[in-house]
Amino acid sequence: MGTTAPPPILAADAAGIEAAAAVLHRGGIVGLPTETVYGLAGDALRAEVVTRIFATKGRPPDNPLIVHLADERGLDQLVGEITPLARALVRDYWPGPLTLVLDASPAVPPITRGGLTTVAVRVPDHPVASRLLATSSLALAAPSANPSGRPSPTRPEHVVAGLGAGVDLVLDGGPCTIGVESTVVDARGRWPVVLRDGLVSREELGVVGQGQGPQQHRSPGTRYAHYTPRCSVEIVTGPTQLGARLRACLAAGERVGVVADAASLAALRSGDAPGVVDYTVRADDEVALARSLYGAFLGAEDAAVDRLLVMAVPERGVGRAVMDRLRRAAAGG
Ligand code: TXA
Ligand code: MG
Repeated sequence: MGTTAPPPILAADAAGIEAAAAVLHRGGIVGLPTETVYGLAGDALRAEVVTRIFATKGRPPDNPLIVHLADERGLDQLVGEITPLARALVRDYWPGPLTLVLDASPAVPPITRGGLTTVAVRVPDHPVASRLLATSSLALAAPSANPSGRPSPTRPEHVVAGLGAGVDLVLDGGPCTIGVESTVVDARGRWPVVLRDGLVSREELGVVGQGQGPQQHRSPGTRYAHYTPRCSVEIVTGPTQLGARLRACLAAGERVGVVADAASLAALRSGDAPGVVDYTVRADDEVALARSLYGAFLGAEDAAVDRLLVMAVPERGVGRAVMDRLRRAAAGG
């Protein structure tokens, strides 16, 4: 207690998993790799543990957490009714980056649900998360392991940099393969209602015409500022606009970073290059941008750029989720 030493990053071998399970059983909290982003995991059914998760993140108490399970067998205990729609989605997408919102059972403490009568649940598709969930036999509440409002962590070092001694230990699962948070779907009715976009797209779910939906059809979390790095983020829609904006920013004396596809980056380095770019990240398509977006935000801060220019990607598949995060970052949250 009272220590300010950063938490250890442990290799996710048998010893690391055992150590993490022991921390969780003691009521501690662990940085957990998943296929989407790193989570800040603790026993979902112990209110005092969940209270600490909220405090560590500085998260508003009315923004509920996602409960993670090793497999679908634990679902009965957490929810009132598993609707036919939920059964179908579980069959098609679990384990995977799809979170289901269902009526909560009384076993789920109100703080975990942000005071709502529903609970969000998912089974992650990541070997380390799966092993820890199975070894600990716990249902783990795990919001993204970032201070509230900041970009989500996609590497173990991001968790340590963001939360420091607020976390007891971090398991090293390397870089996350998807890079943006899970799709959140209300599965109580006959049709899925998308509350937050992710890799499992509206096209796949057959709800492509649903649009953004009214405010009550968004997750509570989407009301709050999100994904905002300390530099300005600006979306550019093509190589010409990228070149023009870069020239203008450099002329104004700004330090600039660029996230774009290989061809656009190469064009910046060619003959009439407008000047020095302090930080670049290559992302050739929407899948690559999803994987590198949050890391690019955090890297741009470390490189002390004033402005990060990011090339837009098509809003297909995970592209909708990426552009949603990017627009929020560009708007300052
Ligand atoms: O990919 C992910 O989902 C990651 C990894 C760690 O699993 N977790 C994550 O958790 O993104 P978090 O807490 O950062 O985002 C959870 C989102 C929030 O937008 C929250 O409002 C929404 O899920 N949510 C949670 N419970 C809900 C509920 N009962 N009804 C509606 N939305 C809910
Ligand atoms: Mg989050």
